[in-house]
Amino acid sequence: MERTLQVSYALTLDAVQPRVSGCTKCLLSETRTNAVFGEGDQYARVMLVGEAPGEAEDHTGRPFVGPAGQKLDEVFAAVGITRAELYIANVVKCRPPGNRVPSRSEMEMCLPYLEAQIALVNPGLIITLGNIPTQALLPSAEGITQVRGTFFPWRGGIEIFPMFHPSYLLRYQSRSKGSPKYLTWLDIQKVRTWLDEHATNTGSKDA
Ligand code: URA
Repeated sequence: MERTLQVSYALTLDAVQPRVSGCTKCLLSETRTNAVFGEGDQYARVMLVGEAPGEAEDHTGRPFVGPAGQKLDEVFAAVGITRAELYIANVVKCRPPGNRVPSRSEMEMCLPYLEAQIALVNPGLIITLGNIPTQALLPSAEGITQVRGTFFPWRGGIEIFPMFHPSYLLRYQSRSKGSPKYLTWLDIQKVRTWLDEHATNTGSKDA
């Protein structure tokens, strides 16, 4: 009886979240205010994976709530996609001091949490935002400039679609042909088409 309960308890995002909140596997736990687990629709067809929390995320415990998050919302809103349709997580759950790039060992220690989230949400499409999440999930991928806008089959049934990180879009304001914003506009339209062509969220894993 107890065994059955343990198994079903382990199979929920709610069961994984406290492990992340209390995680002390790496030194980032000593400088964080809050671990940022991730949030969104647990049945989302599309999952977003960022790099690591920034300052606003560290304060609130929520992913992509700072300037990069506002830009992210804008990009998705341009094709009528809201956060309610998505699940959003990061490779690393605690803010690296000064927003430095997470170290390889920090990423390796944190990756099992993301793996659990992917397994539990079971999305059809994972959008990796920038180089860090793309290479965390597709270690042999080329740089983001080469791979963005391409669908990569991943572990049977899931596709990975790398896009520029929204912070990158904030740094380059141009909208001219070939600019990061222009290319992101092309990419987000592919995401819209993917969503239109795949099962809508029915609140069921069997959809
Ligand atoms: N940048 C990220 O990669 N993730 C966040 O949650 C916020 C900013």
